Amino acid sequence: MTQMLSKQAAHQAMHKKYVLSSWSAQAALMAPVVTRGEGRFFYDEDDNRYLDLSAGLVSTNLGHGHPAVVKAIQEQAAKLCYSPTGFFQDKRAELAEALVKLSPYGDTEGARVFFTSGGAEANDDAVRMARALTGRFKILAAYRSYHGSTGVSMQLTGEDRRFGNEPAIAPGIVHFWAPYTYRSPFYTQDPALECDRALEHLERTLLHENPRNVAAILVEPIVGSNGVIVYPDGYLEGLRRITQQHGILLIFDEVMTGFYRTGEAFAAQKFNVTPDIMTFAKGVTSAYIPLGGVIVREGLAQYFDTKALPVGHTYAGHPLCVATGLAAVKAYQDDGIREQVQQLEGWLREGLKALESRHPLLGEARGIGGFWALEFVKDKDTREPLVPWHGDGPGVMKNLFAELKKRGVYSFGKFNIAMVTPPLNITRGELDFGLEALDYAISALEAGV
Ligand SMILES: Cc1ncc(COP(=O)(O)O)c(C=O)c1O
Repeated sequence: MTQMLSKQAAHQAMHKKYVLSSWSAQAALMAPVVTRGEGRFFYDEDDNRYLDLSAGLVSTNLGHGHPAVVKAIQEQAAKLCYSPTGFFQDKRAELAEALVKLSPYGDTEGARVFFTSGGAEANDDAVRMARALTGRFKILAAYRSYHGSTGVSMQLTGEDRRFGNEPAIAPGIVHFWAPYTYRSPFYTQDPALECDRALEHLERTLLHENPRNVAAILVEPIVGSNGVIVYPDGYLEGLRRITQQHGILLIFDEVMTGFYRTGEAFAAQKFNVTPDIMTFAKGVTSAYIPLGGVIVREGLAQYFDTKALPVGHTYAGHPLCVATGLAAVKAYQDDGIREQVQQLEGWLREGLKALESRHPLLGEARGIGGFWALEFVKDKDTREPLVPWHGDGPGVMKNLFAELKKRGVYSFGKFNIAMVTPPLNITRGELDFGLEALDYAISALEAGV
């Protein structure tokens, strides 16, 4: 007798049959089928509700279904979905102006924006622009970083997602160690020493690579999916000083940190360090429509007045995407998201530090603004990671996320890290619901170890 599958079960079977999902061996995959979202929640096909405690992939900063952004998508879709890139476009111009004004270049004339479809493309293109601008080819990027999954950005990436893509198809990328005080590569737990030693290591790396061949140093100003690592005071300033000394461009990958995730529009403003080039994606549209881009500072952007820009895409500055970005940027301002994040940071610090003090396996809760991570250890004194960095073979951490899901909360993580990066407009009540679920889920994790 054939059994009738529920709609959700039928879609799950169809998904497994036809879809290849990112970064995964496919056979073991199974997940609820998401069909709608509203505010800080999304719903599966059986109408189970999930609190979006990680804002998708640190991207739905405004939550789901923001009415002004949805309206802008509808209006633009009805008016114009595509125009050839050889023509100018009204919303593209308006969003570029809004982004330059929002960026640390806002007070100067001459910064310009190139639009892409996402963060990886933006990093690829930023590197290719830096190579054109300097006539140099080497790029330095940090270990324990993620920069995307296209040719150059994958090789910039300093973690295991690169391994399946080696040998490199994008040559000339050199990795170095950046500070990480909780798990120091420089044998200290003192943030000031960590900073000094990390900068010394960078200078030594540069010397041995020949700084005159180095076009750019590209970093996440706060490490994102590799554990929300906020660099010690002085490190980003040190990067700025060293790059300036050697005529090297400094590129900030602000794909996760942009659009008020840190409490300021970009991390560059939060830390008061201005790079030469910035990349962005995710929050620019609150992830409602794919969009990313590169902002090039004044003085550099003008190089391309007489030399052809060495990058281009069918969807560069796609009307529907930029109209969405324009509405989202306006919504951040109209809704007072900057002020909301000041408050959110206090709630997260209090709630997550309380979890840290209560749970023996929660080694550190760390973060800034609405950007937090939990790092799990076997022992708080030795700081031995709960699961090895290159693989959680038995799937210990999966239990944490499964328990959260059972309690109607979504979060994601990597190895011994869980991200807590909610939509920036989450309410106190919603966050408390998420924190309570985390408390239970960590207890379940501890009971199972
Ligand atoms: C810091 C950072 N850079 C780049 C990317 C790649 O962006 P996308 O997935 O839009 O290509 C990501 C994605 O998570 C990211 O976190």
